[in-house]
Amino acid sequence: MLIRSDDPAAAADLASLERALTTFYATADDYYGIAAGSGKDHLFAPLVPYIEEMLRENHIVRLLEIGAGKSHLPAYLRRYFGPDRLHITLHDINDRNTSHNSGLGVEHINCKVEEIPERLRFDIIVSFFVFEHIIRPFDYIRQMDNILNPAGLFLFVCPRYDIPGYIPPAVRHLSLVSQLAINARLVASAALAHLTRKPRFWVTSDPAVLNRSWRRDCDAVHLVSGSDLHVALGERGYQRAHYRVRLGKGLGSNILRIILLRELYRKSVSGVG
Ligand SMILES: C[S@@+](CC[C@H](N)C(=O)[O-])C[C@H]1O[C@@H](n2cnc3c(N)ncnc32)[C@H](O)[C@@H]1O
Repeated sequence: MLIRSDDPAAAADLASLERALTTFYATADDYYGIAAGSGKDHLFAPLVPYIEEMLRENHIVRLLEIGAGKSHLPAYLRRYFGPDRLHITLHDINDRNTSHNSGLGVEHINCKVEEIPERLRFDIIVSFFVFEHIIRPFDYIRQMDNILNPAGLFLFVCPRYDIPGYIPPAVRHLSLVSQLAINARLVASAALAHLTRKPRFWVTSDPAVLNRSWRRDCDAVHLVSGSDLHVALGERGYQRAHYRVRLGKGLGSNILRIILLRELYRKSVSGVG
């Protein structure tokens, strides 16, 4: 079933989905070896000039990585910036990677995103392959907006599911007819979000991860739409910033070019939309 995460009638379904996924992440021993990994330098590289620019104006830049898993970002950025001026905080919903991440010499926090203390403030918030796992995207954006400094950067890298014919892995356990109907609905909803300036942020309450053995992204319960994100951030006064990723050549890279959402937004200088 597809639900809108801001629909009050969906609260009980969302809470039960959240409980099931929390148990999954806490107990799936292979998950972090399979789902998360290295080889993301091409996604990290476009951040470097932005950090350099911020360091010309500020003594310290604070960066938060959400859903960091076993993060390779600190090691990558250390090639360019020392620990005194670039402060990195790694976040994840659970503590399964604490031993890996604590060895990196950066701060790390384990909690739900809504529980990240609002006293913390960051200049850059990034996430790689996390937004599609966020059960309440409206709350996520609101919370990140609260802790992002004015003129700060907000980066999303994740699959998008508003492409005609691209079936989200989280619904691939359903009948073919249901899969196609969901795809059509997501494509239409993305167009509608543009027209009505109203984001919907669809979530599936009965994902494949709870129905069959694990396959990549079968736990990606948020059926991400680039239009939803763009409209929601536009309403808050965010502007798209340049984030050019080199994806290489070949069929695989061309498919990735279509299905990989890679969006960098800058918060307005006044901090209000
Ligand atoms: C596919 S892995 C990506 C990990 C890492 N960012 C990477 O690119 O290799 C998804 C990550 O999101 C985290 N995650 C899942 N649900 C989350 C939530 N609701 N809030 C924050 N993080 C979440 C998982 O614990 C996991 O580390």
